[in-house]
This record gives sequence, structure tokens and C-alpha cells, in this order.
Amino acid sequence: MVLDVVVVALWAMLPAYIPNNAAVLAGGGRPIDGGTTLGGARVLGDGKTWRGAIAGIAAGAVLAQIMTTVVAPMSTLLGVSLPPFSTAAALALPTGAICGDIGASFIKRRTGRKRGAPFPGIDQLDFVVGALVLTALVAGDWFQSVFTLQVAGVVLLVTPVLHVLTNALAYWVGLKDEPW
Ligand code: CTP
Ligand code: MG
Repeated sequence: MVLDVVVVALWAMLPAYIPNNAAVLAGGGRPIDGGTTLGGARVLGDGKTWRGAIAGIAAGAVLAQIMTTVVAPMSTLLGVSLPPFSTAAALALPTGAICGDIGASFIKRRTGRKRGAPFPGIDQLDFVVGALVLTALVAGDWFQSVFTLQVAGVVLLVTPVLHVLTNALAYWVGLKDEPW
């Protein structure tokens, strides 16, 4: 069933979706780049802070642990066989998501985009690519068993839509300065 694939994809990616939202809520304080510049522009900018990164990774990892403890009842409830998260996957998904977002800011600064400037495509997929690549590297067996071609395809299609919607919501309620 198509819906089963979507449910598994959302379940598997939830620990990678939460970090950026947690970073918005918890962010602030010392920027990761310490204010340093490269070629006249900030290396990353004030939008990437240690507090945001650490809170984001912690939120995603804790969520993955909680999801693993409730995987059996949730599978029964939804009528879909959901995967538990290995410890490596629980850490790699949020860490990869945060690193992808940081990598995108690095590219944005190198291409003359100021903090908060939109970068269509990169903004919506940076954290997905980061999460998938890091998880494939450090939790290869888990990655291969969960991210079938179908699940990976759904992730790449559905994530940008979800990202646009949640960011618009965060902007609308006043949590974010820009709707992207
Ligand atoms: N944030 C943070 N630390 C991170 C990621 C995000 O503190 N590692 C917080 C910052 O307050 C940031 C907000 O979440 O301004 C929104 O995140 P994002 O849109 O990724 O950052 P931008 O401010 O748009 O900066 P950039 O142009 O570099 O993406
Ligand atoms: Mg932004």
C-alpha cells in the first residue's frame, strides 16, 4: 500500500524533522563560527548557534528513543510494521539533519546570501540529505533495511512540502523571522 510507505517514511524521518524546529525554539547565544569570516562574509552566520545545534540533536535523539519504546503499540495502532531505531540511527538522523542545515548556511554565505535569505531547493532538502547520508554511513544496516527505494522516494517528495508548511506555520505564530 502507498499509504504504508508514506507512514514508514514519516516515522523513520521524524527524528530528522524535529532538530531544525527545536533549534528555532532553543537557538541563540554563541554562533558556531565564533563570528569568523571567510572572503568577507561570515563562515556560517549568527543563525547557526551551538545551543540550537545541540538542542536539535538532543531533541531528535530523545524522540527516536521514545519512538522505539512505543514501536509495537504504534505499529498495531496504525496497522503498519514500523521500524525501531538503533542507537546509531537515533543519533545519526538528527546529527545529519543539523549538519546538513549548517552546510547549507556555509553555501549560502559563500554565494552572497545574507542570514535568512531563501535558497529554494537547498532550504527544503539540506537536512534530509544530511540525515540520509550520515545515517547511511554510520548505521548502514539499519539504513538499508528501512530506506527502500520506495521509502527514500517518498521522503524526497514529501519532505519539501512538510518543510514549507511547518515553516509557514512557525512564521505565522511568530517563531521564525521568515516563512522559509
Ligand atoms: N538556529 C540556531 N542554531 C542552529 C539552527 C538554527 O540557533 N544550528 C536558530 C537561529 O535563531 C535561526 C533560526 O533557528 O535564526 C532559524 O533557522 P534557519 O532558518 O536555519 O537560520 P537562518 O536565520 O535563516 O540563517 P541561514 O540563512 O544561515 O539559514
Ligand atoms: Mg532560514
